[in-house]
Amino acid sequence: MTDSVYPSIEILKDRITHRWPEHATFIARSFTHRDAKTMRVGEQLAGLILKLAATEPGGIDKLSDDYRYLCEEIVLPEEVYFRRNGRYRVSNFADANAECYANAPFMSRYMNGLLLSNVIWANHAEAFASFVNDYLPRLDAGARHLEIGPGHGLFLFFAAGAANVGSVTGWDISPTSIEKTRHALNVLGAPRRPTLKLRDLFDASAEGEHEQFESIAMSEILEHLEDPAAALRAAGQHLTPEGLIFVNVPANSPAPDHIYLFEGLDHAAEVMESAGFKVIHSVDFPMSGTTIERARKHKLAVSCLLTGKRC
Ligand SMILES: C[S@@+](CC[C@H](N)C(=O)[O-])C[C@H]1O[C@@H](n2cnc3c(N)ncnc32)[C@H](O)[C@@H]1O
Repeated sequence: MTDSVYPSIEILKDRITHRWPEHATFIARSFTHRDAKTMRVGEQLAGLILKLAATEPGGIDKLSDDYRYLCEEIVLPEEVYFRRNGRYRVSNFADANAECYANAPFMSRYMNGLLLSNVIWANHAEAFASFVNDYLPRLDAGARHLEIGPGHGLFLFFAAGAANVGSVTGWDISPTSIEKTRHALNVLGAPRRPTLKLRDLFDASAEGEHEQFESIAMSEILEHLEDPAAALRAAGQHLTPEGLIFVNVPANSPAPDHIYLFEGLDHAAEVMESAGFKVIHSVDFPMSGTTIERARKHKLAVSCLLTGKRC
């Protein structure tokens, strides 16, 4: 038991370091500058992850091992490649699809690891908290919300719980991601039933092609695409004239399915503007253990968050 004000976070840290003691220093550094608003969302998220873990074979230890797999086997080799070559290793969608989205066992471990990163990695935790604390409250009452690429499903879960959201929909190209999202929202008891569809954002012939939403979230997806501006234009077709789009893109953040290199917040804003959006709010958060100035200077990973409207 813990008497911390953030008991679920403490349990999660404890379980991860139980499986991976060498990660303790990173975790300690990662929590040094978080404010109470960010910690409160992290605590809620950690509690949900523990609940979800109880339904997984292997429980939280399995999720902790998948998180370690994400750090050591998925991200680290790509980081080495990026530092040596100044670019991401994979450069086209077909290769990312074959290596990742169509590879169910890999995708499952990747999404489990990513889920835990939203509590542990400073930039992911800040981005998640900002979606909950800053973006969702901006939506008008009854907003129809679409997430493109929900992956593990927890962003969509929080949208489903927001009082001003009327309905939630998720589109994802990966069957594993759709299943994970469905499972998470069922197990966690999402207050609104989601509509989930296996579909490629670019598939103009898909059912529901003319569906409209007052809110669209694209978190950690644009860097997965060869032409993010085209993806934003495709998403924009589904946004009502007054609707809002939430974009979260990591810059200088290699992964086996990251193919478009965003170089920072200004670059992300330029891409949004070139796709016909006016950016009304933007902020960037540095990776664990560094400042935003140092991250920008040395091209370290940052999460760039932008809220936009159609021009
Ligand atoms: C890294 S995950 C992001 C998960 C979650 N949104 C987050 O921010 O943690 C990216 C997701 O985008 C999906 N995706 C990639 N390309 C897509 C496309 N063209 N259309 C729809 N989904 C796509 C992937 O299958 C994956 O589930």
